[in-house]
Amino acid sequence: MDLPIRPRRNRKSAAIREMVKETRLAPGNFIYPLFFQEGSESTAIDAMPGCVRHSIDSLVQEAGEAHALGVPAVVLFPRIADELKTRDARECSNDDGLVPRAIRALKKALPEMVVITDVALDPYNADGHDGLVSEDGRILNDETVEVLCQQALCHARAGADIVAPSDMMDGRVAALRDALDAWNFEDVSIMSYTAKYASAYYGPFRGALDSAPRAGDKKTYQMDPSNAREAVLEASLDEAEGADMLMVKPAGAYLDIIAELREASPLPIAAYQVSGEYLMIKAAASTGWLDEEKVMMESLTSIRRAGADMILTYFAKAAAKKLRQG
Ligand code: PBG
Repeated sequence: MDLPIRPRRNRKSAAIREMVKETRLAPGNFIYPLFFQEGSESTAIDAMPGCVRHSIDSLVQEAGEAHALGVPAVVLFPRIADELKTRDARECSNDDGLVPRAIRALKKALPEMVVITDVALDPYNADGHDGLVSEDGRILNDETVEVLCQQALCHARAGADIVAPSDMMDGRVAALRDALDAWNFEDVSIMSYTAKYASAYYGPFRGALDSAPRAGDKKTYQMDPSNAREAVLEASLDEAEGADMLMVKPAGAYLDIIAELREASPLPIAAYQVSGEYLMIKAAASTGWLDEEKVMMESLTSIRRAGADMILTYFAKAAAKKLRQG
């Protein structure tokens, strides 16, 4: 054939493929979500094979191992004891609570590691919602935002580097920025869950933390999976309100949203490969139907290719290890 243009020339050897590679994955792109609980025991999480609800000691150990592999950051998810869950979620701003103690332990052992905290009420709320619930079952926006500010300040006092509001209340980024600045926490960053969809992919996570809503669903605050333009509106608000980083969640089924926000905003974009995405790969690999390591790397590469700078992933440690080995 007379073909002057043969794209296969750029694929002819491993060396050339390496030279023309458009997307690179590095341990520095990963943020490691970690679960933890009160007490000295760690518990395996049935719905998320390979994940553990750590004691604080074991949390520090696991974070240290990830850090040694080049993973720069962790994001913390507590399992709060049932007796501390109340309708006003007041435990969320207790300076002696599980999260502030974990932050202090991490910052003491690993001062260089970036500690990110989740700002939302679901672990603390007897109703299992990210916000306060009224008598008639509505999720209260403005009242919730006030409590979120107390929660973020509590995390900042304990030494958190970044707070990550995952609640999807309107106006929370501006309110958090104001509250942090008023208490001289100008250096604490906000990673906003900008486009967080009402997704069934969160199922295993809610099982891991017993944090599923007691009644109803999260559709009055999390976004409708059908909508993309609305994500751009959320991004413009978060940017104007002072977010330092934007996030899309879930990641794999929302690559178009990642790409769209990448175009729409100059801010760094994070994407959350959530529990259901992790579990689907794990489950298929457990029967030998998929090659776990290859699919793990391909899924992460695709999220980067779509435009994410950072990926929150339960594979952070495993993928960093793989990248180290080459
Ligand atoms: C709650 C929160 C959720 C996740 C992170 N923060 C669950 C939810 O919104 O119901 C999900 C993470 C995952 O599925 O891996 N604020």
